[in-house]
Amino acid sequence: MKIGVIGAGNIGGTIGAKWAARDHEVFFGVRDPHKASLVEKIGGMTGTVHVGTSAEAIASSDVVVFAVPGASVGPIVDENLDHLRGKTIIDASNNMRGESRHALGYLRDRLPTANLYRAFSTLGWENLAEPDFEGTKADLFYCGDEGAKHAVDELISDVGLEPVYLGGTDRVGLVEGMTDMWFNLALKQQMGRRIAFKLLK
Ligand SMILES: NC(=O)c1ccc[n+]([C@@H]2O[C@H](COP(=O)([O-])OP(=O)(O)OC[C@H]3O[C@@H](n4cnc5c(N)ncnc54)[C@H](OP(=O)(O)O)[C@@H]3O)[C@@H](O)[C@H]2O)c1
Repeated sequence: MKIGVIGAGNIGGTIGAKWAARDHEVFFGVRDPHKASLVEKIGGMTGTVHVGTSAEAIASSDVVVFAVPGASVGPIVDENLDHLRGKTIIDASNNMRGESRHALGYLRDRLPTANLYRAFSTLGWENLAEPDFEGTKADLFYCGDEGAKHAVDELISDVGLEPVYLGGTDRVGLVEGMTDMWFNLALKQQMGRRIAFKLLK
């Protein structure tokens, strides 16, 4: 797949590197493509990796993943509406101080034909970097439209996580509940950031 990863930090850099290593074409969209630490980070990745502005990454990709500070998602969306229409969009950002932590409503209003997903937002990034817990794969609970669900399942699997589909975008509250659970256990209950979830069947 051609994937535009907007933001190349802890979340974007981690999942983007894994996708590139699994033969996806990854285009990182950032504010400063020439930043020395970024150039070094991307130079260490294997596979097909490009870096440019968010507009370039979005225009070149079929799947767009938002992994930027939550308050930055809206402005990036508004600046790139023409190139986002009809695409598969994954919102991984958490807008901790916004009216809504996720951007699915914002995206749906502006991009009614896009396939929208809420994924990669529920676990600390360390668990995306290392999703294997002594031989057990962590689950990633996510929601979104039926249209590109198989592609999103594949992308979650390619990070090394087990996808668990919770339903359409109307299930986003369940995904946010997983985030609340993670924060509560990791931080308030002081279990530490290296925790994830598994559905037993
Ligand atoms: N860290 C976690 O464990 C975790 C877990 C789940 C979800 N999240 C969410 O995922 C998002 C990213 O978190 P992170 O930990 O990866 O943050 P981070 O390490 O600070 O990385 C953020 C990235 O976004 C870029 N960026 C910032 N503003 C931008 C803009 N307007 N346009 C393009 N790129 C921009 C930054 O680039 P420059 O600053 O270099 O320009 C950087 O590459 C946040 O919304 C966070 O809440 C984080």
